Amino acid sequence: MKIGIIIFSNTGNTLSLAERIGVALKKGGLTVRTEQITTDGDPQKMGDNIKFKNIPKADPYDAIIFGSPVWAFSLCPVMKEYLSEMGPLKGKKIALFTTKMIPFHWMGGYNAISKMKKLVEAKNGKVLGSGIVAWKKKGPAKNVDEVIDNISGLF
Ligand SMILES: Cc1cc2nc3c(=O)[nH]c(=O)nc-3n(C[C@H](O)[C@H](O)[C@H](O)COP(=O)(O)O)c2cc1C
Repeated sequence: MKIGIIIFSNTGNTLSLAERIGVALKKGGLTVRTEQITTDGDPQKMGDNIKFKNIPKADPYDAIIFGSPVWAFSLCPVMKEYLSEMGPLKGKKIALFTTKMIPFHWMGGYNAISKMKKLVEAKNGKVLGSGIVAWKKKGPAKNVDEVIDNISGLF
């Protein structure tokens, strides 16, 4: 099974978690590739009118893990636009994760995951599971290892 980890990361937290999930999956003998969604300019100044630079394709993968930061108590608009505009996900197994700053997941984390889930299901992807990790300056919250185990254990 070929797994794609497709993420948007503005300041590196989501990328760091993606890399750790990738290491866990590779240890289990799976083929994994991490691809970043990037924008042409500062995404914080784009509102909902996102100009993309790199738009990873879903086609090469049997399973995809999508990762995004929480912005404004919801899904970051870059991931929202990417998932809205992307092609079909029929037959693909999907996992989702978000990173955020505020430790309480009911302040945006669950909302962002539920938005991602709806967008993925609208493309006929099958969501197997999800995880949320809060991130302070000193690093990720303690549940990070559990989230990595849970997500990598889905495949
Ligand atoms: C514009 C903006 C809005 C944000 N809004 C929230 C928020 O509502 N709740 C939260 O917990 N963190 C919020 N954050 C913090 C990010 O979600 C958090 O730092 C995340 O880990 C960043 O991921 P990245 O380093 O991959 O870009 C916000 C950050 C930015 C830049």
